[in-house]
Amino acid sequence: MTTEIACAQWLQLQHKVCVVTGAASGIGLAIAEELARHGARLVLLDRNAELLNRAVEGFSARGIKASAVACDTTSEAQLVAAAEKVQQEQGAAQVLINCAGILRAGALDSMSLDDWNEVLSVNLSAYWLCSKAFGEQLRSHATAGGAGVVHVASIAAHFPQAYSGAYSAAKAGVCLLSRQIAIEWGADGVRSNVISPGMIRTPLSAGIYSHPGIELARAHMTASGRVGEPEDIAQVAAFLASPRAGYVNAAELVVDGGMSAKLMDMVPRPGFSPAGVS
Ligand code: NAI
Repeated sequence: MTTEIACAQWLQLQHKVCVVTGAASGIGLAIAEELARHGARLVLLDRNAELLNRAVEGFSARGIKASAVACDTTSEAQLVAAAEKVQQEQGAAQVLINCAGILRAGALDSMSLDDWNEVLSVNLSAYWLCSKAFGEQLRSHATAGGAGVVHVASIAAHFPQAYSGAYSAAKAGVCLLSRQIAIEWGADGVRSNVISPGMIRTPLSAGIYSHPGIELARAHMTASGRVGEPEDIAQVAAFLASPRAGYVNAAELVVDGGMSAKLMDMVPRPGFSPAGVS
């Protein structure tokens, strides 16, 4: 066996049906790429049909078969239909990655209830709806190695950013939802874990990095000295989803290049400059 094949098999994800939401772009797409590298059978869910088709074409151009369902994760009816299609065409899903998310900036004293509810709906309620729709399939693997659910939350679940509307509240909810899934379905072989990314360059955040000086200033805020890439999250997601993380349950992994450890380093002290500031 070559080293490359041995590495690809290490996560034991070959032929497993892996459903990824928000898979047409950014972190979700990178997670799908990583799962494919490990031989998984991909099911891509996203509401952006055009981007989704482009992603599927990108995979098939490289000989990777990925099935796709254009679907709004806030619609229970669409999710139930998607889950039935997956069961019929691929068999029961063994991995679910909840990643589809949105940002709606807004000040607490002026944002609309519609914006608040939309963020909660996509970033929190839909994570529950997806878990519910694929729950029976996931639990059906209880005697065959179990199943893995990975929810992409955010460092914002712990540290609110002003004018970010309901984003932090929704992401904090995801952390608790994940732990509740773990304790309700753990006996049925389902593990549920969270990744909280820090600053990752994706189409969602691309506009921010087009401003001069932002990239460098943000890089200085991390211990690793750089802004993260979608692959930084994808590799962790594949591990958490895999049987190699078989006893990791109800956990959260912060993947932020050490940004959240830098708080005290940013406090001004006479005689000392915060790291990166001369
Ligand atoms: P992105 O905008 O590149 O990708 C998000 C995908 O989700 C898009 O393809 C979009 O069409 C899809 N989507 C949105 N609402 C949907 C819905 N209702 N139904 C189906 N699909 C839907 O964004 P990115 O950056 O890849 O974000 C992915 C996740 O990572 C989100 O949950 C986000 O909150 C989280 N995150 C991102 C960070 C970053 O710096 N980019 C940092 C921390 C967390």
